[in-house]
Amino acid sequence: MDEVHTLKESFLKELNSARSLPDIRQLKIKYLGKKGMITSMLRNLTSIAPELRPEYGSRINDLKRLVSEEIEKKENILKTDEYKRLISSSTLDITLPGKFTPFGREHPVNKILSEIISIFVYMGFEVEEGPEVELDYYNFEALNIPKDHPARDMQDTFYISEEVVLRTHTSPVQIRVMENRRPPLNVIAPGKVYRCDSDISHTPMFHQVEGFMVDTDISFSHLKGVLESFIHSFFDLKTPVRFRPSYFPFTEPSAEVDIGCNFCSGNGCRVCKNTGWIEILGAGMINPHVFEMVGYDKNVYSGFAFGMGVERLVMLKFSIDDIRLFFENDLRFLRQF
Ligand code: PHE
Repeated sequence: MDEVHTLKESFLKELNSARSLPDIRQLKIKYLGKKGMITSMLRNLTSIAPELRPEYGSRINDLKRLVSEEIEKKENILKTDEYKRLISSSTLDITLPGKFTPFGREHPVNKILSEIISIFVYMGFEVEEGPEVELDYYNFEALNIPKDHPARDMQDTFYISEEVVLRTHTSPVQIRVMENRRPPLNVIAPGKVYRCDSDISHTPMFHQVEGFMVDTDISFSHLKGVLESFIHSFFDLKTPVRFRPSYFPFTEPSAEVDIGCNFCSGNGCRVCKNTGWIEILGAGMINPHVFEMVGYDKNVYSGFAFGMGVERLVMLKFSIDDIRLFFENDLRFLRQF
């Protein structure tokens, strides 16, 4: 019994003089390690007279518990001390200015694209997407533009192979959606399109938003209503809107939609080529041939479609006169939005 008592005394003394974390580690090994003093005492229990064993055993266990607890306590104190010392001795100068992390921002085209999408979503349109690398079939054929059709010359196509192109417009999404779903449909399809063309008002890649509505009784007045609402909410309630007869193989009748030139208030200027009007999108009633291509009954369904160029809308909204500015990544330009 005295042995246990002596061990406790010597432990407490040593603990008291332990000054560092390595000291504590040593103590732990000395008393509690595999070959430590308490461990071997427990192992030697068999050499004690059986009637003394229970009491002796329990005293050693009490000591073991006390030793572990005391070691842990001291360890925590020393750790905290060490931490405090590190902080006070460190050369970190918290009054120095931090490193500047520049913030990025949304590209003006993406910003306006989100705005366009949210206007249509507000009107109840769903958003669908299609591939930028597209089959000739979806980009042309199914849209009533056969191989020898002169309309193919209207769009300077990047061909990947005989049957695969970079889509020249977002209209192929009309076909993909109609093939997979039944009316009523109320869909917009935003995305990138590609044409082999480059000058002050054309870049080889630009963005379009396609839109279409198909049901049993859709008329041209629905088209007018939707587009006028869009233009008035995107530009200004007072912006004049004009529908001008036009031609697209996949719509009949077709129209181009102009807005009153906001550079000269309709008086005529360089931007509107003295007409007072600026074209912003193509539209029309979906051609019955297109419905046949997707297996819709042309006697049951009618619908309208439109497609607009996003860069063009951004240029009009912010009075930008060169489309190439969007893709030069000049920060002096991009920071203005
Ligand atoms: N796809 C046509 C274009 O890119 C625009 C359009 C879409 C016209 C839908 C009519 C209907 O020029």
